[in-house]
Amino acid sequence: MALLETDRLERAREQTLALVAAVADSELERVHSPLMSPLVWDLGHIAAFEDLWLAHRRGGLPLLHPELLGVYDAFETPRWRRGELPYLQRAAAEGFLSAVRERVRSLVLGGDEPLVELVLRHERQHAETMLQTLALAALDGWQPPAGADTSAYGSAAQHSGLDLIAVPAATVPIGAAAEGCAYDNERSQHHVEVEAFSIGRVPVTNADWLEFVGDGGYRRRDWWTAEGWRWRAEEHVERPLQWVSESAERRLDGVAPLDLRAPVVHICWHEAEAFARSRGVRLPTEAEWETAASWDADAAVKRAWPWGDEAPEPRHANLIESAVFAPLAAGALLDGAAPCGALGMIGDVWEWTASCFGAYPRFRAYPYREYSEVFFGSEYRVLRGGSFAASADVVTPTFRNWDLPQRRQIFAGVRVAADLA
Ligand code: AVJ
Ligand code: FE
Repeated sequence: MALLETDRLERAREQTLALVAAVADSELERVHSPLMSPLVWDLGHIAAFEDLWLAHRRGGLPLLHPELLGVYDAFETPRWRRGELPYLQRAAAEGFLSAVRERVRSLVLGGDEPLVELVLRHERQHAETMLQTLALAALDGWQPPAGADTSAYGSAAQHSGLDLIAVPAATVPIGAAAEGCAYDNERSQHHVEVEAFSIGRVPVTNADWLEFVGDGGYRRRDWWTAEGWRWRAEEHVERPLQWVSESAERRLDGVAPLDLRAPVVHICWHEAEAFARSRGVRLPTEAEWETAASWDADAAVKRAWPWGDEAPEPRHANLIESAVFAPLAAGALLDGAAPCGALGMIGDVWEWTASCFGAYPRFRAYPYREYSEVFFGSEYRVLRGGSFAASADVVTPTFRNWDLPQRRQIFAGVRVAADLA
């Protein structure tokens, strides 16, 4: 296999294993939340996926563990029942991972093979899922693997997510171009006439959210949709999932004073929507979000990244490659500015949009229907931009994530928008 691709797979694997290195076997093997699989299930699933797509389907080798295909099929057993499956325990799951990787290394695979990219991105996405599990589990003594030095980014001013910047009307190519790697749901690229709108220079901050809470945000029925209010009442929600009070928040490295400059995180779509209504603004549509993140209005071109064509570096975007494992202060990375001036569109926190997850024109499922197609419809909402736990191998301005409107385990916040008359 081409050296470059092996390196990328290896780096993803190092990251995956580093996340769980300090997790005790019993914590690795048990269910921490009905929303999440046991961590060790994710490990076996990553191995099974790589074996199926690269060793078996691409390389023509027989499956290493045909008897485990069902155990690691995400669609056969919902996450909340995965604890009952005969999944491999730690040593066996780690052995499965390395055995599959050995076979894949022996194959002659091209450097730009879509299936290699698929497998790489799959592992990266599961690493983020595992970090969500670790965030919910709040294990005593577990720390994210490598603390990066964030002092260079520490001096950001206090921004507000309600500071809106104008984006002019344009006809914008939305979605991924035909060439290059992208998920099926990002295609086909199609033109959308986007009206002039305004969008937050940064995501909504903890300071913004604290004001919302102080204004009775969780008690004012008129700020919520009917469905949102029902959810809030049933779950007795009064603050974001990981706030332990109005002045402290649980982060991956433990409970810390609430950082007022950081984007709010661990909110669901209903909370994002209520916040926006309370401030007289709204959530951006997917097309608006993508326009703000990638459309260079002066040059009339769509950029690969908000800042241009350069691959993401820690100075542009706080992704898992930065190893910060928390959102930075909103607006800290000035080098990551989009053409419209928006900051932090890639990394830090996923951003809920107003849009339901649906097919773009001329959508064709690839490589399997269960990646995207079975989720299309009015149930799921789209999130954009990636989080501090997402990888640059996965997230681009066209990447679409999705979840149910009541889900809060994602490292998700919100950036608001408004019409521009
Ligand atoms: C795109 C994050 C919603 O985790 O369900 C992983 C990614 N798909 N394995 C998910 C995925 C198959 C997917 N999300
Ligand atoms: Fe998966």
